[in-house]
Amino acid sequence: MISKIFSIILIIFISTTIAIDIRYLDTPNEPGTSFFPVFEGLKLHVRCYRNQTSANINGPTILLDAGLPFFSTAWATILEPLLIEMPALNYSQACLIDRYGYGFSDPAPFPFTAQEFVRRLHGSLQAAQVNPPYALTGWSWGSIDMQIFALRYPSEVVGLFTVDGTDPIWGFEGNQINVDILTAGMENFIVMKQLDQLQDAAVNNRIQLGYGYYNDADSIKFPTNALKIAQQYFFTNNFLNTAIQELNIMVPSTVMLNDTIASLNTATPYKDLPMVVLYESLNGIEWEQRQVNMSNYSTNSESFVIATSHFIPWESPDAIISGLAKLSTRIKNNPSTQFIKSPSISCPINI
Ligand SMILES: *[C@@H]1O[C@H](CO)[C@@H](O)[C@H](O)[C@H]1NC(C)=O
Ligand SMILES: *[C@@H]1O[C@H](CO)[C@@H](O)[C@H](O)[C@H]1NC(C)=O
Ligand SMILES: *[C@@H]1O[C@H](CO)[C@@H](O)[C@H](O)[C@H]1NC(C)=O
Ligand SMILES: *[C@@H]1O[C@H](CO)[C@@H](O)[C@H](O)[C@H]1NC(C)=O
Ligand SMILES: *[C@@H]1O[C@H](CO)[C@@H](O)[C@H](O)[C@H]1NC(C)=O
Repeated sequence: MISKIFSIILIIFISTTIAIDIRYLDTPNEPGTSFFPVFEGLKLHVRCYRNQTSANINGPTILLDAGLPFFSTAWATILEPLLIEMPALNYSQACLIDRYGYGFSDPAPFPFTAQEFVRRLHGSLQAAQVNPPYALTGWSWGSIDMQIFALRYPSEVVGLFTVDGTDPIWGFEGNQINVDILTAGMENFIVMKQLDQLQDAAVNNRIQLGYGYYNDADSIKFPTNALKIAQQYFFTNNFLNTAIQELNIMVPSTVMLNDTIASLNTATPYKDLPMVVLYESLNGIEWEQRQVNMSNYSTNSESFVIATSHFIPWESPDAIISGLAKLSTRIKNNPSTQFIKSPSISCPINI
């Protein structure tokens, strides 16, 4: 009897283990490995893809942080081409991050500022032994995390790549109204979920992509495994609550980052850090100027523009590969001599 109970427990245990046998790509030998470091009580999911040869074994780790309310699956479109280029570009691995509450990471017990997230991300990477040097890559909101990371842990960072990245000025540009609109939308989805209407709205294309649900037309370039994970996750309370939490730290987090940069009292806070800025041309001239201004934060940067929407990871994965190639060239030919020796900036944490 006891052994029967034991084996039932064992089966339950095994099946929950199997439930986190994650696959993003459709290729038979999916080369990803997931890490679940626990830092200060919370589990963070970091999924790394390696194609190591003698050429890139010591190369930097690319860290990829997605836009809001997206997570690690948003990068699935770039993995196959990136794996092929990785040895030639001297990147040892590409690691995708699920911010708290998304994908396979624990939810945050209360909203974390980007500054607090970055502190925990750093501790989690150490716990998982996902080691520096890092080539930080942020799409949209992820670019704020990555800029904070660079300032706070400069000795571990060899490059920064922003993909239509949110800039530190964003919080001053009247965007609280957009936060309020998106928050109301997410709150409405919570009600629809309770009324059992959310699934129907999603599959009938009544949810805009900006809210985080990929309908079939948006998903053409996605590996089916990653798409399935992303679509299923949209319907969870964790997702909807996390999106609301995150929306509401956007303005304060960017304002704090801008204050941190202002306190350095220099036009080039990222010194000579190799930096690449990729942005879209469809969001107006002011956005473009701010992107160029952000690239000027480093003396060792370049920017390039493409005609797509903000959803670059799946509209134009090639542009991301090309940006990572540009960054690799800069890291190789013109590595930082000053930035990596800058003092770590103690960014404010939770308020
Ligand atoms: C690859 O990157 C590592 C770490 O930045 C560096 O030490 C090494 O020399 C690089 N290799 C090549 C071939 O550029
Ligand atoms: C690893 O890189 C090599 C060299 O570019 C490539 O031929 C191979 O297909 C890559 N492996 C994977 C799993 O993509
Ligand atoms: C943002 O920081 C810059 C310095 O980097 C400063 O000149 C500017 O006034 C700040 N913006 C706001 C709105 O405070
Ligand atoms: C770009 O930076 C310049 C110089 O700091 C500033 O005058 C200009 O207003 C900035 N552009 C935007 C759109 O913020
Ligand atoms: C920013 O850098 C570009 C070159 O990328 C330069 O043409 C421009 O004058 C710079 N803008 C400012 C405000 O420094």
